[in-house]
Amino acid sequence: TNWTTKLRYLPYKEWPDSQIKDIKQKIAQSHWRLGYHIQPTTGLLNDPNGFSYFNNQWHLFYQSFPYGSVHGLKNWTLLTSNDLVHWQDHGPLLLPGDKQDSHGTYSGSAINVDDKLFLMYTGNVRDKDWVRHPKQDGAWIDKNNQLTKITTPLIDQPREGFTDHFRDPQILKHDNKYYCLIGARRKDDTGHVLVYQAETVTGPWTYKTELKFTDQKMGYMVECPNLVFVDKKPILIFCPQGISQDVLKHDNIYPNAYIIGDSFDWDDFSFKNPSRIKNLDDGFDVYATEGFNAPDGRTLAISWIGLPDTTYPSDVEGWANCYSLVKELKIKDNQLYQIPVNENSSLLKQKITTDKISPQTKISGLIVNDEGLLTIKTDQAEELQISFDTNNGKIKVDRTKAGLLVAADHGTTRESIVDPGKIEFELYLDNTVFELYINQGQKVLTGRIFPKGQQFRLASKSVQLQKEQLEKIY
Ligand code: FRU
Repeated sequence: TNWTTKLRYLPYKEWPDSQIKDIKQKIAQSHWRLGYHIQPTTGLLNDPNGFSYFNNQWHLFYQSFPYGSVHGLKNWTLLTSNDLVHWQDHGPLLLPGDKQDSHGTYSGSAINVDDKLFLMYTGNVRDKDWVRHPKQDGAWIDKNNQLTKITTPLIDQPREGFTDHFRDPQILKHDNKYYCLIGARRKDDTGHVLVYQAETVTGPWTYKTELKFTDQKMGYMVECPNLVFVDKKPILIFCPQGISQDVLKHDNIYPNAYIIGDSFDWDDFSFKNPSRIKNLDDGFDVYATEGFNAPDGRTLAISWIGLPDTTYPSDVEGWANCYSLVKELKIKDNQLYQIPVNENSSLLKQKITTDKISPQTKISGLIVNDEGLLTIKTDQAEELQISFDTNNGKIKVDRTKAGLLVAADHGTTRESIVDPGKIEFELYLDNTVFELYINQGQKVLTGRIFPKGQQFRLASKSVQLQKEQLEKIY
């Protein structure tokens, strides 16, 4: 397909039914699909949106372009779950095409208000000269998952002095007032997070101030800001595009970063004693992570495994990208830990005792001294290599020979550093995605691989290993 702008933004009703049918047929032949990670039914999946708990169920939406594996006219597709592990896909719910969201229902968040769920999102609006006019919009969902849009934008224009890159509202409630954070690019090409406030979610929304979480320059644009709390400490998770390598060393095209503060001041919206900025994930493919403080007291997060401006080998099959497992965020010794939620243990089936592993396997290990090596090989002589160096506290993931390459111009290896000493890990393999958790989630390295081979075998050196087969649910 020649993905012209016209085709990418074609109104959904003008697509023939055969488009989705054809993609589904291709997907049925795919050997790259996933067994227990959220993936799009068809087309491209990007940012997680509206992660919430409503009507006794977890709710989550994905940014979706259903008609091909490109960024086009986006909708929010609804997923619900009882356990954060098994998700039901209800299809597109927040559709683009109205005056306030004509060219896409872009990223945003959700909050419970009385017996409804309120969505705040960015309406991507283009005029006939293709000039962008971002709107911050609202919509209600009732207990039958019926959606009603608010047709007047909640925030109609970017703040004075800012460009049309003004999006991804995160809605929060504090002391009976509502706040939202918006990612923004100032006219001087610097990235910022702006705070707005309202008495009721439908507005009026008024500008308060910029969020104060760093003295350093956060690139030219901040996407997907998320403020969450762990033990009252604020964590800002965000995507600072174009950030200097001196401020944040990163290998991916754009980083997904975070900053932790000692406390948060709701009067002037500042972090007290902000940490330095760090990468949320040391692997290849994590972006646009969405976090929220769940009513059960946990701080939960889920990441897009996929990067902007990046093509993936599965594009030819008409689908792209997936999500991470749902992770719980914790702070220990002032450091952020991310660990798949406990509910994932329901996926464990049985121990594997041979070196042949299923495409859905959890591998846990311990490296006590010197160097350890773990290799996941396929029957086509491909391999994903993970090496551990306990003396230097270094973990290295190498996907150079793991199959078709992704964004190889950004390197085919990634490294992560921990304190010297024994290294523990848990690796969740799901066919073409892996999530490697080091020292109980102190560091995480996530990535995709695209092997031709379909049989996996494990080889290891100086690693004590445990292998468990995981359930394939999709
Ligand atoms: C991040 C992003 C967001 C935007 C969405 C559009 O990946 O560019 O800033 O709202 O994707 O799909």
